Amino acid sequence: MKEQLEQLKAQALKKIEESKDLNALNDVRVSILGKKGELTNILKSMKDVAKEDRPKVGAMVNDVREAIEEKLRIRKEAFEAAVLEVKMASEAIDVTLPAKKQAEGHNHPNTVALNELKRIFIGLGYEVVDGPEIEYDYYNFEALNIPANHPAKDEQDTFYITDNILLRTQTSSVQARIMEKGKPPIRVVSPGRVFRADEVDATHSPSFHQVEGLVIDKNITFSDLKGTLAQFARDLFGEDTKVKFRPHHFPFTEPSAEMDVTCFKCHGKGCRFCKNEGWIEILGCGMVHPNVLRMSGIDPEEYTGFAFGVGLERIALLKYEIDDMRLLYENDARFLKQF
Ligand code: DAH
Repeated sequence: MKEQLEQLKAQALKKIEESKDLNALNDVRVSILGKKGELTNILKSMKDVAKEDRPKVGAMVNDVREAIEEKLRIRKEAFEAAVLEVKMASEAIDVTLPAKKQAEGHNHPNTVALNELKRIFIGLGYEVVDGPEIEYDYYNFEALNIPANHPAKDEQDTFYITDNILLRTQTSSVQARIMEKGKPPIRVVSPGRVFRADEVDATHSPSFHQVEGLVIDKNITFSDLKGTLAQFARDLFGEDTKVKFRPHHFPFTEPSAEMDVTCFKCHGKGCRFCKNEGWIEILGCGMVHPNVLRMSGIDPEEYTGFAFGVGLERIALLKYEIDDMRLLYENDARFLKQF
């Protein structure tokens, strides 16, 4: 038995030494210590050993097993270290390689234009306020002096959620909300998204943005409107910009006007950009209609005010000389990168 054990030990240690990788090592382990392994078989035959010899033989078997296990452990660690070594070498990061370029985004032209508008009006003492995009018919039309059968409702058709809730067609809808809430003086601008039943083309979109302005105080006159909007135009398009007011009709202002600015490309001489007119239309405006004031609980005998509405995309398109509004919505990085 002793020789048999010695021989097994010697063979086992040799096999362990010669195994080439972790798999081979495992095979060796199973063949010796496994359920049907050689050493296990010897252990099974212990029952044939004379009772008095058993402790001695048992101790010998244990010694052999320990020696084999120790050798297995050492070999296994060596293999694992080698595997780790290879892995580390192959996964090493070369910190001297040039880094991947980070694609850095920037503001969308609409946002740039909006920030510009905000900067100008905040500088003039205005507060920036928000209004809901899903709006009551009342605020979008009725409170703006546009009753149920008014033809202006036709031009501003929109998506109706119920009979009296709709996607707002104009940021003018915030006017009554602000007037109902706050006591004059009021001096606010309200930017936001609006919706119309318009087909997409170079100058139309079913969803676009406006910035509404509203000023209510004692003794506000048309000259305040002119002075404010002229200042706005100069700040936005350059000091030498001139403005022109053409009479127009909006149901919620009286008198109403559209404001043109001198073309900032040709300075009024006429060019392709202004369609040879020398002027470019940029906004609608007017003195707040007494009906609108009254409906929102403001006494038109005591207070007057003016309002204006600017299309944000229009400003962005003009400022960047973009000739198709669709480009602003297509999210083509090659286009947006330019601004
Ligand atoms: N809401 C108008 C539109 O969408 C623009 C506008 C015109 C707003 C005159 C005003 C205003 O506040 O006074 O066409």
